[in-house]
Amino acid sequence: MLLFREKVPPGWLPMVLNNLPAVLVDHAHLERKAATTALNLEKYRDLYARVGELNAIAIEELQHFQLVLELLKRRGIPFSQPFPSPWISGLMKSIRNGQRHQVIDHLICCSLIEGRSCEKFQFLAEALPGIDRELADFYSGLVESEGNHYATYWLMAREIDEPEADRRLDFYLDLDAKLVREPNPIPMLH
Ligand SMILES: [Fe+2]
Ligand SMILES: [Fe+2]
Repeated sequence: MLLFREKVPPGWLPMVLNNLPAVLVDHAHLERKAATTALNLEKYRDLYARVGELNAIAIEELQHFQLVLELLKRRGIPFSQPFPSPWISGLMKSIRNGQRHQVIDHLICCSLIEGRSCEKFQFLAEALPGIDRELADFYSGLVESEGNHYATYWLMAREIDEPEADRRLDFYLDLDAKLVREPNPIPMLH
């Protein structure tokens, strides 16, 4: 399903495993932003017919956000400020203007963010059982949902304009491959 052209750097997983409290706070913000992003996509004329599906995604992301908040609370980790992700802003900065260009680019960026989340949650689900059973189960339980969001956003882009979506996916997969290699010293999901 996932067609990324570059692997997640090998240093990412150990850094995340060694900083789980900070990563959980980052994860809470990621789910919060995923919920607002689903709602933001509803501004595009090409997606007016999909508002119900986008609302469903927003609700699911808000539920994920709530689950992470409850985890933070149980573990006594304070919810605190978000750090910007250079990978996410690098993708978002390349969204073009123009009605159809913008919605297609925005959907593909969202799709890649969901796809990378799905991939990384799977890595965590596989790496965590010996370290933290509850978190392993938690991440394992999110993989399918983020995978569905990845596919839904990609299919929405394709249904608007298939050749243009294919062209832009090619561009974004190269951009993702370049950005994902750039070192990020802050322990975060993306
Ligand atoms: Fe989510
Ligand atoms: Fe998601």
